[in-house]
Amino acid sequence: MTDVSGLSIGILGGTGDQGKGLARRFALAGLKVMIGSRSAERAREAAESIGGGATGAENAVVAAETDLVIVAVPYDGHKALLESLAPQLAGKIVVDCVNPLGFDKRGAYALPVEEGSAAQQAAAVLPDSRVVAAFHHVSAVVLLDPAVEKVDLDVLVLGDDREATDTVQALADVIPGVRGVYGGRLRNAFQVEALTANLISVNRRYKAHAGIRITDI
Ligand SMILES: NC(=O)c1ccc[n+]([C@@H]2O[C@H](COP(=O)([O-])OP(=O)(O)OC[C@H]3O[C@@H](n4cnc5c(N)ncnc54)[C@H](OP(=O)(O)O)[C@@H]3O)[C@@H](O)[C@H]2O)c1
Repeated sequence: MTDVSGLSIGILGGTGDQGKGLARRFALAGLKVMIGSRSAERAREAAESIGGGATGAENAVVAAETDLVIVAVPYDGHKALLESLAPQLAGKIVVDCVNPLGFDKRGAYALPVEEGSAAQQAAAVLPDSRVVAAFHHVSAVVLLDPAVEKVDLDVLVLGDDREATDTVQALADVIPGVRGVYGGRLRNAFQVEALTANLISVNRRYKAHAGIRITDI
């Protein structure tokens, strides 16, 4: 098992619910966490709200100063942000949890992505980083809920670099209840991102925060 206890975790867009939720769970697990934002002030406020020694700074500082960087911004801002941070992210594991989704009266649906998926878009603009796709199906509401001690789901981890996917599986495992499961190469990220639209439909019908479990492993 890969040891992630010494890694510092940066979260781009960490002022949003998903980034804050992940930051909170990693800080609770004793990891060093740095929240990123377009505004250093917003980042510091978010870090304070999480506690656990989390700090905050502008996205570029977070990308430069942390070991592993999670991208938790909306799909709209994804490509431009990563293009601007390519030098700082070179050589690092970059974890993409972005779900390119549209919403209309009938609910959520997957948007087409020219590169194939948000994760492949990240890999295309970050050729010197090791891009891994993970954490798409983890509900921010659950991550942020202090009443939820164990988060009951598997995290599918996709990527083309075995060491990087092993590291991200181990990172998922630090959240009580969560199991990181290798889910294939990055070229198969589209359907993992798109499945979130189905989970949103499940959540609406059953008033739930549904996750997935993989059986027989
Ligand atoms: N919410 C969930 O339950 C969930 C679950 C799984 C995956 N995800 C994925 O995680 C990502 C973040 O979700 P979220 O709900 O936390 O989103 P969000 O609150 O809408 O956005 C997160 C943060 O991104 C920054 N941001 C917004 N627009 C930006 C832009 N154009 N360029 C750069 N930064 C921008 C903002 O931070 P600053 O203004 O402080 O810079 C914002 O606080 C999404 O791609 C989503 O698909 C979400």
